[in-house]
Amino acid sequence: MTEHGVRPALRDSPAWVALERHRTGFTATLRQLFEADPSRGTTFRAAAAGLYLDYAKNLVTTETLTLLVELAIERDVASHRDAMFQGGQINSTEQRAVLHTALRAAADESVTVDGIDVVPQVHAVLGQMADFARQVRDGSWVGHSGKRITHVINIGIGGSDLGPVLAYRALRAFSDRNLIVRFVSNVDATDLVESTRDLVPETTLFIVASKTFGTIETMTNAESARTWLLAAYGGDSAAVAKHFVAVSTNKQRVVDFGIDPVNMFGFWDWVGGRYSMASAIGLSTMIAIGPERFSDLLSGFRSMDQHFRTAPLAENLPVLLGLLTVWYVDFFGAQSVAILPYEQYLDRFPAYLQQLAMESNGKSVTLAGDSVGVATSPVYWGEPGTNGQHSFHQLLHQGSLLVPVDFIAFARSANPLGGHHDILVSNVFAQAQALAFGRTADEVRALGTIEELVAHRVMPGNRPSNVIMADELTPFTLGALISLYEHNVFVQGAIWGVNSFDQWGVELGKELATEILPLLTSPHASLKVDSSTAELVRRYRDSRQP
Ligand code: F6P
Repeated sequence: MTEHGVRPALRDSPAWVALERHRTGFTATLRQLFEADPSRGTTFRAAAAGLYLDYAKNLVTTETLTLLVELAIERDVASHRDAMFQGGQINSTEQRAVLHTALRAAADESVTVDGIDVVPQVHAVLGQMADFARQVRDGSWVGHSGKRITHVINIGIGGSDLGPVLAYRALRAFSDRNLIVRFVSNVDATDLVESTRDLVPETTLFIVASKTFGTIETMTNAESARTWLLAAYGGDSAAVAKHFVAVSTNKQRVVDFGIDPVNMFGFWDWVGGRYSMASAIGLSTMIAIGPERFSDLLSGFRSMDQHFRTAPLAENLPVLLGLLTVWYVDFFGAQSVAILPYEQYLDRFPAYLQQLAMESNGKSVTLAGDSVGVATSPVYWGEPGTNGQHSFHQLLHQGSLLVPVDFIAFARSANPLGGHHDILVSNVFAQAQALAFGRTADEVRALGTIEELVAHRVMPGNRPSNVIMADELTPFTLGALISLYEHNVFVQGAIWGVNSFDQWGVELGKELATEILPLLTSPHASLKVDSSTAELVRRYRDSRQP
């Protein structure tokens, strides 16, 4: 692997300089690019793992792509990728390997960390999860009073929540509808209270999901959930064993909480929180959809992993998406990327991607600790279509900001009903067209528009988008889609030279909250804090619930 510290600064690297020059001369619009090359639609496309990527409506030419691929070569994206797959300690600030791809390795593969093949451990935990999931699903796992489990509540936050939420919501069509899974993440008690208010403790199972088993939100929610449960059992703490299981890397803390280690599902420090949904963190997913479909989900991940690992850079979907993002962020000043799934089941995909992308690449220094010198991660945001069309799409079409868009669509619906799906998909294609080609003043006039309204009705166009399509949303395609974005984020981070696998930026706020908490609860503690915070604390103390 190349030593990042000795490379020229990104801005000074030959490929970057060449891209800057290319950008300066890049004046063609998407209309002109399509006129010049009527076959763009078949030139700028790629497919893998059941996903089709149309990237023809991007502000790129074949020369742009050649230069972007040059940049990927110069930044050693391929060797950085190989180091990840081989268990190298690429998370250098935490001295950890980054091996979420080993979570989806086939049983006959081998991936070594510190000389130990981790694949047998991965499959042992998958087997333990499958046994447990089957028992919950077939009713042989019962609560302390012998009743069948009807509701599962996953308590976790960040990567211990967003992936499982996404997967449960995405794969509801494949889930056992007699088993309801809910998610509690926020330390705001409302989350737990509203999630349990209609539930019967005797038929409720809690999964406490936390890599560290020390996250204050999760542990506070878990303690309150235990209190809620024990109140129904007259304080009989033996009930915990049948109503609480844990997913964690920290056995001691699980035991200290009172959960039987037999009911603990482990994973490893080489799995980052936001990359953990294929680990035991996916237990709620497996309970919902069953071990066989969970295995299909892993196959989808694996299929895209394999593509990322082996496809030439210029045909490699995660590489293309990552490079296009760098292109827009650093050469067009884009500050956000909209993720618009035209699939209601993917309603939490944008939220999941926010942690994945922004916790990974929301960094300003390189692995060597120097300033990156260019803009890094954009803000990811989005909503399922067509809802966004009736709210923020106005800005996408006529606003002053450039917002590259990823549309995600499926050829078949899990709920075919009348003309719904054709209407839905026609909107995906139309939105991508409207963004790209817009409507000129002359075209607006030709529609008979009065002159005063022409400027208002002009659609500037020239706004880039990708369309990612698959036949249907299945566990396999979901796995492939998530892996696509994981590796897309990886490519961006490798270009910028940041550590995409730490998250030191979240620590300061946690530390300060620990210092502020006693100031809120001890009315006479002296307020040796800034005057703004002191005044806020005073006001809170004055109105605080007794
Ligand atoms: O605070 C950020 C973070 O560490 C995330 O990276 C992680 O996914 C989340 O908190 C939850 O951590 P844990 O699984 O250890 O509770």
